[in-house]
Amino acid sequence: MNRKFLWVALGISSFVLYLTSCSKESADKLAAAATCDTANVSYSAQILPILQDNCYTCHQGSGAPSGIDLSNFAILKAHVNNGDLVSAVTHNGSVTPMPENAPMLPTCEVNTIVAWVHQGALNN
Ligand code: HEC
Repeated sequence: MNRKFLWVALGISSFVLYLTSCSKESADKLAAAATCDTANVSYSAQILPILQDNCYTCHQGSGAPSGIDLSNFAILKAHVNNGDLVSAVTHNGSVTPMPENAPMLPTCEVNTIVAWVHQGALNN
């Protein structure tokens, strides 16, 4: 074995390592995207837990700001119909971004809410 061969071998193995680390990263990204299933969104299984975890601290019960009690489906639906729910969670600028004074919800949760609205915001 001469030195030149060793350098070539080292070069090839680092290149292979580089390639495999890259494909692992994109596989992870694909896996993350694949776990965000926005087909046939269920209010009770998907939307309700998001609202409970991120919105009910303010938007539940009689003390809710401007009467926006999102635990009341009729009130929630009214804010779907006037566009405020999607505007609030997508931070599109037309209403106060929600959750108030907190970072935007994770992309998958935003996409799930938007998909649910597009699918008719059913109480399913
Ligand atoms: C820390 C308290 C707080 C949290 C948490 C919060 N909100 Fe709000 N929300 C408010 C307040 C206060 C207002 C009234 C804002 C205003 O009138 O400018 C409001 C207004 C709204 C409105 C009406 C938009 C408007 O400006 O008229 C919607 C829709 C809304 N929130 C949805 C949500 C959703 C969905 C979540 C969870 C993802 C959430 N909020 C989390 C405090 C909160």
